[in-house]
Amino acid sequence: MLAAGLLLTGLAVPLVAARLGRAPGERQAEARGRLSTSLVDALHGAPDLVAYGAMDRAVHRVEEADAELTRLARRDAGLLGFGAGATALVTGLTVWASLLLGVAAVDDGSLHPVPLAVLVLTTLAAFEIVQPLPAVAARLGALRAGGARLFDVLDTPAMVEPPAEPAALPDPPPAGLRVRGLKVRYGPQEPWALRGIDLEVPAGAKVAVLGPSGAGKSTLAEVLLRFRNPDAGVVELGGGDLVGYDRDDARRAIGGVPQDPHVFASTLRENLRLALPDEDDGGDDRLWQALERARLADEVRAMPHGLDTEVGVHGTRLSGGMRSRLAMARAVLAAPRILVLDEPTAHLDPDTRDAVMADVLDAADAEGFSTLLITHDLAGLERMDRIYVLSEGRVLQQGAPQELADRAGWYRDALRLGR
Ligand SMILES: Nc1ncnc2c1ncn2[C@@H]1O[C@H](COP(=O)(O)OP(=O)(O)O)[C@@H](O)[C@H]1O
Ligand SMILES: [Mg+2]
Repeated sequence: MLAAGLLLTGLAVPLVAARLGRAPGERQAEARGRLSTSLVDALHGAPDLVAYGAMDRAVHRVEEADAELTRLARRDAGLLGFGAGATALVTGLTVWASLLLGVAAVDDGSLHPVPLAVLVLTTLAAFEIVQPLPAVAARLGALRAGGARLFDVLDTPAMVEPPAEPAALPDPPPAGLRVRGLKVRYGPQEPWALRGIDLEVPAGAKVAVLGPSGAGKSTLAEVLLRFRNPDAGVVELGGGDLVGYDRDDARRAIGGVPQDPHVFASTLRENLRLALPDEDDGGDDRLWQALERARLADEVRAMPHGLDTEVGVHGTRLSGGMRSRLAMARAVLAAPRILVLDEPTAHLDPDTRDAVMADVLDAADAEGFSTLLITHDLAGLERMDRIYVLSEGRVLQQGAPQELADRAGWYRDALRLGR
């Protein structure tokens, strides 16, 4: 009797629960994901949603996701109830059966009355082992679906794998680089974003990369900043290939500001200190120096909390211009030998833009770092040693600013059109 009862609760009931719970469990994992996504989306995008009067729709989407999850959770609870009920029923029946059999055995003298109590209580205790099984089985579907989602994330290949045996970067790191035959695309089926670029940044030089939107400028910056591996071609740095160096090493040589730099929901100080090594706790002097370079120091001094000012999620308490100047200060602070700036002045008014660029270029002259400035803006390029015009993933034109201005082509046309 006991064996039959244990088999029922330990095997049959869990199997039924697992079968019934499988489909809703899988949907539950998805529904939970949908609820989180729609909620986070609505919260982050709240200002835009309010501005377009689309908040109600977003809230409705969250409510729908919530209702779906509630429905599935209710079903899940029902299933757990079924499992617990069925287990209790079988346990009760088995205990009763063992009691009846035991009483009969005591009656005909084959069992002493004292062991009867032990027999019944042992039966009851035996079921404690199998009691949790139906609940676990009911959850199996949801757990498996959750696991599959996690493994999807874990199995995503890293965009930039560290080299197995990193080459040693010369010390001090080189201040010049040469790009040869660089090709990049965003997926095997995607068109080429860069179709074979040759470009050189000699040590100490100021190089600009110009071109219309979609030309591949940011893709180039991503390769140089080691966010993305080239599909073909090399970036030569210090006699080796950029891909062959340890990422931290490469970062000592090439650093800078990506097109959409992230500002963390913390203080100005913490946002800047990010660029310094952990062990660097030398006062705020260097931070202020970097802020001066990026023309942000006066504004920070005027803030009641100075460097301790909280900038809000994504830096929303700063203006767009202040955010880009903060990113610029951070890049300067990291003191790379080659500074790559991807549209660093896009959010600045013309006067500030010219002043910030002049300061950064002065700093480059004073400290001897090279600059690769990516921009679609033609103002203030006279100080550049060389300009490359990119279009559709190719180098369309290259030369000194004056040369390009005198020669028929994209640059001269753009100059004449006033940008
Ligand atoms: N994350 C991405 N996924 C797929 N295609 C992309 C991605 N980023 C950029 N591209 C494509 O690569 C090309 C170059 O883009 P980008 O380097 O951003 O140009 P630019 O900075 O000059 O405006 C464009 O055709 C763009 O659509
Ligand atoms: Mg870009």
